[in-house]
Amino acid sequence: MSNRKILVTSALPYANGPIHLGHLVEYIQTDIWVRFQKQRGNLCYYVCADDTHGTPIMLKADRDGITPEELIAAVGKEHLADFTEFGVAFDNYHSTHSEENKIFSELIYERLRDAGHISSRSITQAYDPVKNMFLSDRFIKGECPKCGAADQYGDGCEVCGATYSPTDLKNSVSAISGAKPIDKDSVHYFFDLANFTDMLRSWTNAGHLQPEVRNKLAEWLDGGLQQWDISRDAPYFGFEIPDAPGKYFYVWLDAPVGYMASFKNLCDKQGLDFNEFWGKGSNAELYHFIGKDIIYFHALFWPAMLTGAHFRTPSAIFAHGFLTVNGAKMSKSRGTFIKARTYLEHLNPEYLRYYFAAKLSSSVDDLDLNFDDFTQRVNSDLVGKVVNIASRCSGFIAKRFNNVLSEHNAEPGLFEEFVNASQQIADFYEAREFGKAMREIMALADKANQYIDEKKPWLIAKEEGKDQELHDVCSVGINLFRLLAAYLSPVLPVLAANTEEYLNLKPQTWPTQATPLIAHTINAFKPLMTRVEPDKIAAIIEASKENLEKTADAPKALNFEPIADTIEFDDFAKLDLRIAKIIKAEHVEGAEKLLQLTVDIGDETRNIFAGIKSAYAPEDLEGRLTLVIANLAPRKMRFGVSEGMVLAAGPGGKDIWVLSPDEGAVAGMRVK
Ligand code: MSP
Ligand code: ZN
Repeated sequence: MSNRKILVTSALPYANGPIHLGHLVEYIQTDIWVRFQKQRGNLCYYVCADDTHGTPIMLKADRDGITPEELIAAVGKEHLADFTEFGVAFDNYHSTHSEENKIFSELIYERLRDAGHISSRSITQAYDPVKNMFLSDRFIKGECPKCGAADQYGDGCEVCGATYSPTDLKNSVSAISGAKPIDKDSVHYFFDLANFTDMLRSWTNAGHLQPEVRNKLAEWLDGGLQQWDISRDAPYFGFEIPDAPGKYFYVWLDAPVGYMASFKNLCDKQGLDFNEFWGKGSNAELYHFIGKDIIYFHALFWPAMLTGAHFRTPSAIFAHGFLTVNGAKMSKSRGTFIKARTYLEHLNPEYLRYYFAAKLSSSVDDLDLNFDDFTQRVNSDLVGKVVNIASRCSGFIAKRFNNVLSEHNAEPGLFEEFVNASQQIADFYEAREFGKAMREIMALADKANQYIDEKKPWLIAKEEGKDQELHDVCSVGINLFRLLAAYLSPVLPVLAANTEEYLNLKPQTWPTQATPLIAHTINAFKPLMTRVEPDKIAAIIEASKENLEKTADAPKALNFEPIADTIEFDDFAKLDLRIAKIIKAEHVEGAEKLLQLTVDIGDETRNIFAGIKSAYAPEDLEGRLTLVIANLAPRKMRFGVSEGMVLAAGPGGKDIWVLSPDEGAVAGMRVK
C-alpha cells in the first residue's frame, strides 16, 4: 500500500448558531472518511474552522451586547466541544478571524488584482438610514408583491414561494431597525469570474466532481458567468480590503481561504510544509466535503480564485444532500430542529454515527433521519448483531478459560472469509459508499451469529469433556468480532477503542493482513453498547421544542430572569425612572405580544415596544401616565428599536398591569 498524502476539509460552520444534526451529516461523513484513510496507513490531515465574518454575526453580537470577537470565541468553543463529543476528530480547528486567514486572503486578493481579475464600480443598494448600513436582501422585510403575505424577506416569499428583488416588496422596512430603506450608491469590488470560463469548463469536466454536480455546473457555465461582488461596506465584521479603506472582503471571499489558514496554523504547530499541500504542482490530494447548497462557491469561485492566485486546485469536491427528520425539513415547532448538544444530553453519539453511515452514499441525495428506523437499526445491527457476538462468547472465555483464547484457530476458512472482505469494504469506504460498507459488514456479522447458532456453545458447555470444543467455538467468535470492530472503527471509534481494550490489542490497522489471536489473554468484558431507549428520543424532541420557547424573541419586560439578591445603592441610583405619558399606542404587525408605544418623557418622545398586548388594547393606553426606565440602552428587536422600558407587574397573559402614578404626576418627572 503506497502512502498517500491527503488534506481533507469540511465546510466551516457559521459562528452565529449552534451545531445541529443537519450539520453533523457532513462532519460525521468527513470524519469517517478521514479515520478510514488514517487506519489504512495514509498520511491524512483533517482541518476545519469557524466561519466568523459577515453581517449576521455582527448583528448577533450587537443583540447579545458583546463584541463580535467575544461572540466568535464563545461559539467556537461550543462548536469544537460538540464536534469532539460526536467523535469528529479534527487535526486542527481554527477560525477565519485569524492572522493566517488575513494574510492569505490579502495575498489571494492582491494576486488576482495584479493579474487584472478585480474591477470596481458603483452600485445602488438599499440602505438603512437609522443603522447607517447597507442592507442585503435578507435584511429587508415587507409584504410579498404576489400574495401580500406580511413579514417576508427581500429575496423571496416563504408563504407562496415567489422570488423577487427587494425593491418589489410592498411597504418594505429594514429588518434591523424597522426604518424605511433608502437607495444609496457605493463603490464595490468585483472578481471577474468570466475570465476563468475556459479554465472552469475544463476543470469541471476533469473528474473532480460528482456527475450530478458536474451537470449543474455545465448549466451555470452555459448561462454565462457574472462578476462576483467581493466587497461590503463598513460597518462589517471581516477583513478590510488592503487598498480600499472602509471596504471589507465579503465573508464568502475569506471563508474558503480559511481552509488554507487552518492548515497553515497546523503546519506551524507541527512543522509541516504548507506548499507540499497547496503549492502548484503539489502531489498531495486535497478534498473538500460540503453540502449541496454551497456548490457554487466551491466548484466555481474557489477553483478560479486558486488558479488566479497561483495555488493548486482541489482534487475533488464531495457534496452531500440535506438532512430531513421524520420525512420533513427540520422544524423548530415540531421539535425536529435538534441541536448537537440536545442529542448529546440524551443519547450515545455513536448511534447517530452508525445511522448516518448506514444511510450515506456518494450521491447528493437528501437523507432522512426517521426515529423509528434509527431505533430499529441501531438495536438490531449494532446491539443485536455485532455486540451480541462478543456477549455470547465472552462469558465462557472468562469463566471457563480464565480469559485466555484457544490455542487453535478452529475455523480458518471462516476467518479467511472475513479477512478477504477487507478489500470490498475498503473500496466502499474509499468511494464514500458508507451504506454499502455497513451492509457488507452486517452480512459478516450475520455469518458470525449463524456460526454460533449452529455450534450452540451454551449446549456444549453442559456436556462433559467438551472443553476444547467450547474454547475453540468461543475463540472463533471473539476473533470474528474483532475483525468486525476493525471494519467499523471509522464509524464507531469508541466501540472500537473499547473492543481493543477488552481484547488487549493496540489500535487495529485495516485488517488486510490480519491473523487470528491465538492463546491470547484478553480482559474482563464490559457491555459495549446498550439498546436505544425510545423515551430518550421523546425527551430530545421535547427539549428541542423547549429550546424554541427560550430563544424566541419575547419582549424582555415580562421575562423574569434570575434576579440578584441585593444590588448596591449605586446600582439603584443609575436607574433613570420617569413618569411618561403614552401619546400613541399601536399594534405591531406580525407581533403576537407587542404593542408599540410612543411616550413623552418630558424632554423627548421615545419609541418603546412593550409585551403587554395580551392585557391592553391600544385605546386603553393612549393618554395614560405610566413609569418607564429612560436610560435603558436601546434594544433592537425584530420590529424596530425599543428606546426604554415600561414598568408593569403581574404574571402575564391578561394579568398585566402597567404601573400608573397618582394624580398630580406629569410626564418627565423623575421617580426615586
Ligand atoms: N459558512 C458556510 C460554509 C463556508 S465553507 C468555506 C456555511 N456554514 S453552515 O453552518 O451554514 O453550514 C456548514 C455545512 O453544513 C455546509 O456544508 C452545509 O451544507 C451543511 N449543512 C447545514 N445544514 C444541513 C442540513 N440540514 N443537512 C445537511 N447538511 C447541512 O454554509
Ligand atoms: Zn407570497
